[in-house]
Order: sequence, then structure tokens, then C-alpha cells
Amino acid sequence: MTSANSTLVLGIESSCDETAAAVVKAGTEILSSVVHSQIEEHAEFGGVVPELAGRSHLSKILPVINRALVEAKVELDDIGAIAVTERPGLVGSLLVGISAAKALAWSRDLPLIGVHHIEAHAYAATMESDDLAFPLLALIVSGGHTALYRCESFHELTRIATTLDDAAGEAFDKVAWLLGLAYPGGPSISKLARTGDPKAFAFPRYRPKDGSIGFSFSGLKTAVLYHLRGQDALAPTPEPKDIERRADVAASFEQAVVDALVKQTLAAAKQEGLSTVVIGGGVACNQSLREHLRAEAEAQNIRVACPSPAYCTDNAAMIAGLGYQLWRAGKTANLELDASPR
Ligand code: KG4
Ligand code: ZN
Repeated sequence: MTSANSTLVLGIESSCDETAAAVVKAGTEILSSVVHSQIEEHAEFGGVVPELAGRSHLSKILPVINRALVEAKVELDDIGAIAVTERPGLVGSLLVGISAAKALAWSRDLPLIGVHHIEAHAYAATMESDDLAFPLLALIVSGGHTALYRCESFHELTRIATTLDDAAGEAFDKVAWLLGLAYPGGPSISKLARTGDPKAFAFPRYRPKDGSIGFSFSGLKTAVLYHLRGQDALAPTPEPKDIERRADVAASFEQAVVDALVKQTLAAAKQEGLSTVVIGGGVACNQSLREHLRAEAEAQNIRVACPSPAYCTDNAAMIAGLGYQLWRAGKTANLELDASPR
């Protein structure tokens, strides 16, 4: 195959703390998806340190791209277009992927496509279920975002609700830290929650007072903090070994997040008259969220599509996949493509 009629897109993602590259055929067939996670580099700080992230992307981007080509068993000459995350994210991190993408596109005279990271998370679920029909509702829940979008097509998204404060993943990460659990908090809390009682403690579930749709997780996070410290706000947070019924706290917290996400998502589907929901972002890996959302949606004749966990968290297959659709729709960029944090 020559690159002129190739449907292969090389996708590049570096918006946060994963350096990723993937080769995808015709928008859905994933030939390779390589992700280098920086989790260990940020773990001791309990969250992503932007300067560290940028430097790490710089040292990993070319080896990761190379590996994606090798694992897909293709050469750069076989690639038809280059897609890269242009926003949102950490500017210093985004620039690493964008510079690599521009250099490759320029040197091989290939089309360059700028991809919106959130739109790509919504696209991920459609890569694995080819019978999903638009319009649909997307719940994007990650460390940086918690929002609901009405999607008319792959690239026409309207945000209908977001969080007033913390993202759901951020709440998982902060509560995990309070409980003395490893970063990232989502998987650690889920694991511990399996041995706990989700009904043990009644933590608050936010719902907008005016009946609109929205999220807020800071009240829940504070409720867990007070639960651990008792009523004395100045008391120190107890050592993990001194936390009573730690698994029950984890399970009750997780259940509160899941309840809020499920309730608001189904309310949005009803408001918008949509019968298909897709989810994406790291928190979409959460087993309890997947199960509760599926069960409650089914009872209302709403279909839920969840990507496999590897395509919920940050990856470049979703960037290459959506990049192909944008390319076909004529939405290519030029070498002035720039990073945008928002
Ligand atoms: O989408 P992602 O990989 O990166 C961002 O764009 O933020 O999401 C990472 C977030 C972290 O906050 C992590 O704690 C959360 O996703 N997460 C989970 C689970 N796996 C990852 N949260 C709840 N349950 C999980 N199983
Ligand atoms: Zn993400």
C-alpha cells in the first residue's frame, strides 16, 4: 500500500502523564497502541507534576512512536496521516506530541490532524461497537474532567453539564491519599472497596438544587475528611493503620461517586431524549460505575457502551481513530497547529 491511498493513521497523545502512540486502520482497527505511563514518576507527589511530565514526554516520545510502528508491523512510509492531541492538557506536555507530529507530517508530506482529547475519549467507545447511532450522550470522567456531552456526530459535541469543582478522578485521588492508599487513587480505592460495605456510611451525593444537571465532588471529599478526623476540623488525619473500617469508607465513598454519576447521566439522557450513552476517561474503568450504569440504564431502555479499560484511560488509539474521521471530513490542520490548555 502506498501512503497516498493508505487508511492508516499514526496517533500521538501527550496531554497529561501518558506518552502514547498508536496505529489505527480506517478509524477502528487498532494495529498497535503503546502507552508509557509516568505514574511512578509522579506517585511520590500524589498527582501530576507538570515540569516532570514535560521532561518525561520528551525522552519517551520517539521510542514510543517507534514501538507503535514496530508492533503494528508497518513503516512510516505506510502511514497515510498523523493525528495528535492538540488540547486540552498541560501545555508543555502537549507541545512535545505536537512537535513530533508536525516534524513527521512535514518530513513525509502527510496530512496533519489536531484532535480534541475529550472528543477522542467519547470516540473510544464507538471504536469497539460499530452499531452505535448518533446522536448519543457521552459521560467523560477522568482526573481532569467530569462532564456530559450531547454528541451529534464524532466531532459535534455540546457540553450539557460539568463539575462545579473537583473532577471525579481527582476526588478518587484525594480520598485515596487521605486513606493512605497508592496513587492513582481510583484503582486503589476500587480494590479496597471490594472488601467493604458500600452502605456502611451515608456520604453525600450532590444534586443541583434547581433540578438542573451537574456534578460536584468537593462536599463528598470534605465529608470523608471529617469522617476520618471526627468533628474536630483541626485534628490530624489519622495514620492509615489507625483508620477504622477503612474498606467500608472506601466502598461508601466509591458508591457515593457512582450514584452521583449514574443519576446525573440518566437525567441528562432523559432531558436530551437520547437512548445511547457512551463513557470514557480513566474513571470509566471503574467496575462499579460500569455495572450500576448498565443496570439502571437498561431498566430505562437506554443502551450503555463502555470501552475496554485500556481505551478508557489515556491512549493514542482513540486519537488515531478520531483523527481518521476528521481527516475524512476534511478537517486537517497546517504546521501552525498549536497547543491549547483549554
Ligand atoms: O483519563 P485518565 O487516564 O487521565 C486523565 O485525563 O485524567 O484518568 C485518570 C484518572 C485518575 O484520577 C484515576 O484515579 C482514575 O482516572 N481512575 C479510576 C479508576 N482507574 C483510573 N477511578 C476510579 N476507578 C478506577 N478503576
Ligand atoms: Zn484523558
